[in-house]
Amino acid sequence: SVEFALRRRGAASSNRRLFSSDSAPERKVAILGAAGGIGQPLALLMKLNPLVSDLALYDIAGTPGVAADVGHINTRAQVAGYAGEEQLGKALEGSDVVIIPAGVPRKPGMTRDDLFNINAGIVKSLCTAIAKYCPSAVVNMISNPVNSTVPIASEVFKRAGTYDEKKLFGVTTLDVVRAKTFYAGKAKVSVADVNVPVVGGHAGITILPLFSQATPASNDLSTEDIKALTKRTQDGGTEVVEAKAGKGSATLSMAYAGAIFADACLKGLNGVPDIVECSFVQSSITELPFFASKVRLGKNGVEEVLGLGPLSDYEKEGLENLKPELKASIEKGIRFAKDN
Ligand code: NAD
Ligand code: LMR
Repeated sequence: SVEFALRRRGAASSNRRLFSSDSAPERKVAILGAAGGIGQPLALLMKLNPLVSDLALYDIAGTPGVAADVGHINTRAQVAGYAGEEQLGKALEGSDVVIIPAGVPRKPGMTRDDLFNINAGIVKSLCTAIAKYCPSAVVNMISNPVNSTVPIASEVFKRAGTYDEKKLFGVTTLDVVRAKTFYAGKAKVSVADVNVPVVGGHAGITILPLFSQATPASNDLSTEDIKALTKRTQDGGTEVVEAKAGKGSATLSMAYAGAIFADACLKGLNGVPDIVECSFVQSSITELPFFASKVRLGKNGVEEVLGLGPLSDYEKEGLENLKPELKASIEKGIRFAKDN
């Protein structure tokens, strides 16, 4: 309607100083698990992203309320809530990017792999629906254990005949966010300037921050400092799980990290050049079939999986040490998808 068009134009012009989105193409983003601890703040952040034209919020329950709430924010995205499996198809149809934070989080004393039995089935059924309703969407997998849920997704898509390795991403951005924060604090540099690649996987020692490549470089950090920073990054999730003392795991920092990664995917799809983020993807840079490293994003998803670059001896040792665990987690996911 004319009224609708005028309202849209009004909102766009009041936002113009913040975002120049007038020429951004239509992009639909779906969040599966949108009523959860991550899902709600992630829905908020995606509603604020001017690259999003449609935001579909799906969960087993609770999404009409989240959608009504977030939908009142005067930004571009049109928001719709979908609750229950019978509405999943509608939520997914036409999606360019599907973000999956559906599933149970850890409690103190648990590993991410302890979530496998519940989350593997959730991820499998959601990916089966993605293959049916939006087979060419970019998938951002947040649900843990990421080291296994990404291989599960790949097998589901292969079986459906829709697998495109360029469009499946395990979201490891929170590891990068943490590494940047901890490094900036220790090296006493401005956190806004910091970059640190984090490679490997997303659990314990499979998380390998490459502080030898951190920028701005710091000469003040001792080997002990680097070891402590590495351990803190690897245990960052557990630090939050323990502090929340039974009330779940990282949600706010994860929503932030998820929004950064989804934004990078959208920019890539829109043809913005030189978009590089770390992500857990199908990879041939090591002997493992999936591996997190820097990835260049483009119009078709992964444009290039970038290599590891030069590693310190400590990082080389960390790389060899993480491989058996990461390999086992990948194989566990593949086996589950094949057997179920
Ligand atoms: P949460 O329990 O607060 O929310 C999960 C949501 O998923 C709930 O609203 C639940 O109803 C929904 N859900 C369950 N089954 C579903 C299904 N079949 N379809 C759609 N929705 C479904 O948990 P959370 O804190 O938001 O964490 C979610 C997941 O993200 C956990 O597995 C957690 O381990 C993981 N996580 C990953 C990272 C990462 O860095 N990749 C970081 C933090 C958390
Ligand atoms: C994280 O790194 O915070 C997430 O993977 C959640 C967790 O269980 O630690």
